[in-house]
Amino acid sequence: MSYVSTPSSQAGTRGLADPNTRPNRVAAIAIGLSAVILGVLMGIFNPLLNNSTAAEGAAVDVLFSLLLGIGTTVFVVVQGALLYSIIRFRSRSDDEEDGPPVRGNVPLEIVWTAIPAAIVTGLSLFSYGVLANIELPQPDAMTVQVTARQFAWDFYYPDRDVHSPQLYVPRGRQVHLVMRSADVIHAFWVPDFRVKKDLMPDRTTEARFTADKVGTYPVVCSRLCGVGHAFMRSNVVVQEPNDFYNWLYQQQTGRSVAGGAGNAPVDGKAVFQKYGCAACHQLSDAGAAGQVGPSLNGIGTKAAAVLGMSHYHGQAKDVLGFIHESIVDPNAYVEQGFQPNVMPQDFGKQMTDQKLNALVQYLAGQK
Ligand code: CUA
Repeated sequence: MSYVSTPSSQAGTRGLADPNTRPNRVAAIAIGLSAVILGVLMGIFNPLLNNSTAAEGAAVDVLFSLLLGIGTTVFVVVQGALLYSIIRFRSRSDDEEDGPPVRGNVPLEIVWTAIPAAIVTGLSLFSYGVLANIELPQPDAMTVQVTARQFAWDFYYPDRDVHSPQLYVPRGRQVHLVMRSADVIHAFWVPDFRVKKDLMPDRTTEARFTADKVGTYPVVCSRLCGVGHAFMRSNVVVQEPNDFYNWLYQQQTGRSVAGGAGNAPVDGKAVFQKYGCAACHQLSDAGAAGQVGPSLNGIGTKAAAVLGMSHYHGQAKDVLGFIHESIVDPNAYVEQGFQPNVMPQDFGKQMTDQKLNALVQYLAGQK
């Protein structure tokens, strides 16, 4: 009955006059203070990230920590005010009155528009600065060409004509990646460096990083690119500059031997490893554990069995021929339980005849 007789003018001021519904200054200060403290702690200690091991990654981490700190502060203010209001201003069991008729609050609206606008503007300027900084080309940068294909990585050092399935880099020197896909869209991602960039079949993309700690870090393909996507992994091997240039020199001289200087034999196992076969096939002798394609353990024996099967319709007449055919024309025979068109069909064009033959011989020897 009482709310009927309450004059409406009184109801309008009730919110401020009644000590039971007046906001508590102490609570507001407590929420604000804990928001700032938690925000600063999250920003400084950032429990969500390990430390980046690349110079550019460290700059990204500063930006991320700042975002996390500000985000934490805003989160605690909003959720704290909400929680406080739910508890303090809840309706009592005997209270059937309407709430006070609040009609907006212009200063408050100006404040809660101006603060986010200032935060967003400041962050976008800061982000731009970080991006411009980490993409800045260094004059001594080393260029590596990256080719992604289903489901392997190839890293090519054009100055020395060296290919590698793993990305070797010297510590402290900027690496400039020039990247292209041979088939579908892939993405080059090194979580430890905070570097992630798509590789596309119709255009070249670039990325830069400067590794500042010796070690081995995973390279992950982060675009769903087919059945072998999950296995499309490699490593960045960061070495001291001396070790790196030694490695590069060895690859170069090893390659010129393998490429046919004189009559030096080509190592089929090296070809197997160099052309990324290990990403998809299992072969214990070469330390390969790929699961995308059929296992090649004992392929020299298995090939003979396949040739005798009634459902083999390829052209090969012997084991060497069958292995050769399976590399240059993978769809000629597809092992049961596997799909055609998964294996790239251009390996015959990628490697010289000599390397191809060495690979065929090597695989035929796997009994
Ligand atoms: Cu390549 Cu996923």
